[in-house]
Amino acid sequence: MDTWNPAQYDLFKQERSQPGRDLIALVEPCPGGRVLDLGCGTGELTRQLHAHSRAAETLGLDRSARMLHAAQQQTAAGLRFELGDILALPDEPQWDVIFSNAALQWLPDHPTLFARLAERLNPGGQLAVQVPTMEQHGVHRVAKEVARLPRFAATLDGFIHRLDLPSADAYAELFWRLGFDRPNVRLQIYPHVLPGPEDAVEWIKGTLLTAYENRLDRATFAEFLDEYRRRLLAELPAERPCFFPYQRILMWGRRS
Ligand SMILES: C[S@@+](CC[C@H](N)C(=O)[O-])C[C@H]1O[C@@H](n2cnc3c(N)ncnc32)[C@H](O)[C@@H]1O
Repeated sequence: MDTWNPAQYDLFKQERSQPGRDLIALVEPCPGGRVLDLGCGTGELTRQLHAHSRAAETLGLDRSARMLHAAQQQTAAGLRFELGDILALPDEPQWDVIFSNAALQWLPDHPTLFARLAERLNPGGQLAVQVPTMEQHGVHRVAKEVARLPRFAATLDGFIHRLDLPSADAYAELFWRLGFDRPNVRLQIYPHVLPGPEDAVEWIKGTLLTAYENRLDRATFAEFLDEYRRRLLAELPAERPCFFPYQRILMWGRRS
């Protein structure tokens, strides 16, 4: 089921766009080259990346037909979008830049995944990835807590263990081991200010909770969401506006 909803995702467009722009800024232009954006979503960043890199060809790949439908509004010479799964990339090395903003956190086993991506780069190719790491924050911790309740655990238990990501220093070492000799890896806190704590629920509904929604039937997901909202709002400070620090890891490397 395609649980991605461009309208829900775009509720916090302003806040979400800065990390993507920061990741693009890490990419060195590759005039005439080939660029791949994995999990491109609604494609706005893909178009900005295409312009920044001065590539001849940029492909945005996503497995959500709804997100890709929105991406069709992004047009430029050499820019195209395709429906497809990150895990089903063709084997040959053919990209000068592989870029992914806020998408790879959905996939398990990053050491193996990143090794496969590195193999698909041309010599001197660049890998640029941003992942949110909110494991310690209530918005993610409470989702895991609720998923472990007996009424959800049977469906969700295997899945929640997949969501733990490496630390920033582990990513730096992984890049180095994969032949990116001077990796640039940063842990960055984006200091968002939301109108109130209930907006944190709306934010997470557009991202992390889509994965839970995908695995539960409609009625069970509604129950999950109620329980999640109740527990999270009891934990977050009842302040207006509400400070919502969002932790992300940005990483870049060029293959020697
Ligand atoms: C949080 S959105 C980010 C979209 C875009 N990169 C941005 O920053 O605006 C994550 C996107 O990753 C896509 N995605 C997740 N897993 C995927 C997979 N295995 N293959 C292709 N796309 C995937 C989702 O469909 C979704 O559009």
